Amino acid sequence: MELKVKTGKLKEEAVEALVVSTYEKELAGSARTVDEALGGTLNRLIEAGDFKGKLNEMAWLYPWGEGIAAKRLLVVGLGKREELTLDKVREAAGTAAREISGKGLKSFTTSLYGVEVLPHPIEVLAQALIEGSLLSLYKFDQYKSKKENDENGKGIEQITVLSEEAKEVSKIEEGVRIGQIVSEATNFARDLSNHPANIATPTMLAEQAEKMAREVGLNCRILSKPEMEELKMGALLAVARGSQEPPKFIILEYNADKKDLDTIVLVGKGVTFDSGGISLKPAEGMDAMKMDMSGGAAVIAALRCAAALNLPLKVVGLVPATENLPSGSATKPGDIVTASSGTTIEILNTDAEGRLILADALTYAKRYSPRAVIDLATLTGACVVALGYIACAMLGNNRELMEKVRAASELSGERLWELPLWEDYKELIKGDLADIKNTAGREGGTITGAAFLSRFTEDYPWVHLDIAGTAWTGKGVKKSYLPKGATGFGVRLLVQFLRNWGK
Ligand code: BES
Ligand code: MN
Ligand code: ZN
Repeated sequence: MELKVKTGKLKEEAVEALVVSTYEKELAGSARTVDEALGGTLNRLIEAGDFKGKLNEMAWLYPWGEGIAAKRLLVVGLGKREELTLDKVREAAGTAAREISGKGLKSFTTSLYGVEVLPHPIEVLAQALIEGSLLSLYKFDQYKSKKENDENGKGIEQITVLSEEAKEVSKIEEGVRIGQIVSEATNFARDLSNHPANIATPTMLAEQAEKMAREVGLNCRILSKPEMEELKMGALLAVARGSQEPPKFIILEYNADKKDLDTIVLVGKGVTFDSGGISLKPAEGMDAMKMDMSGGAAVIAALRCAAALNLPLKVVGLVPATENLPSGSATKPGDIVTASSGTTIEILNTDAEGRLILADALTYAKRYSPRAVIDLATLTGACVVALGYIACAMLGNNRELMEKVRAASELSGERLWELPLWEDYKELIKGDLADIKNTAGREGGTITGAAFLSRFTEDYPWVHLDIAGTAWTGKGVKKSYLPKGATGFGVRLLVQFLRNWGK
């Protein structure tokens, strides 16, 4: 995708499609500037009541040769002026981009004139505009022999952001640059999650991480089973036992050799297929468990952004990757294993496998003396029950860090809601025969899952994000920039968090 920023007059752009926006019940912003050239056509459209300017509402006009040079004009509503948010900018941009792509067009020109979300500067608006556009145009059709876009080529190839103010151009360019890096990385994470599990194996995930690392200049190391044995990663190995696919422990390091930089470690659950193991899941909907590596995908994508954006930090990505399958060699309910920290674990339910692989990854994180560790995991069905598909759950052991993550979430538009992690919950995962057990039953499942993890994170500030509900578009999720399937949830949030660090 080619993205351009230029100065010029909206009415003078001889393009195939020009997008202008307006608020509800008032002709404002870029729509107003072209309306003057059109002699009031848009005003009449609104007065007639045919277009109200509600968020995502659209109208096409064909005023070619009547005062503006564009062949087609798409008016998109932003809703009420005082209610505009960054996320609505993403949505409206996504709605327009999809509409234009649906017409088979190759390019469009848009602008941010009149779009204001205080206190955010124009860079941030430009970033949101590009995120909405590129995220909404995402398609995962590589397994279809006939592509949807077959007749009209490859879909939209070029987006131009026009500014009537020359002094804004470099600011818009900066937002566009960041928006493109983050969106393309999010779409990369979506691809990894959307691939079926026979393709996206732990080995494939490791290869993808290695390839990406070569492209952007990151260190990448993959630990295989003998190295995991050496490190005594008994919890990760217990999950991998049932599968014929070898487990991989992916390590990505950005700025590894730079001294005097704070180190942030990102950990992502990389279960490439979760059948539940011997505690087998029901057949219905089990196919969705190919996305149980979405936390890992988000971490790999975030590392790609850290390098592409040249962030002044050390960032480490850890992704324990394995399948969770039943077989004659699989771990059985009641088995006791020892994690790399020395903690013994009673595995009461082999379907609570995410916390087991994270236990060894969170222990591995210690060697970096991190200033912060954030893990992302599709950890519990209970999280979906609690928060649905709208927000992920946040738990942690450090107030300051949690507030930093919350601030990043507010900017990125990826919502989170905090759940408590009181001592009482930690009591619930104490083991009868071993130090701890891997489940305390269904009640408060998201919290007891985090309580389990907290046993391995005592040495550093830590935040856990349970993304079970947000990693995949669920019932009722209808945002233009979240096409069906994997959402890439967490990439924007992590990148925003890393960019904010030290500010
Ligand atoms: N990967 C699942 C959680 C999940 C469920 C993610 C639905 C996305 C959508 C996880 O490994 C799991 O099976 N958790 C169990 C834990 C229980 C056995 C304590 C669950 O939530 O049922
Ligand atoms: Mn499971
Ligand atoms: Zn799982």
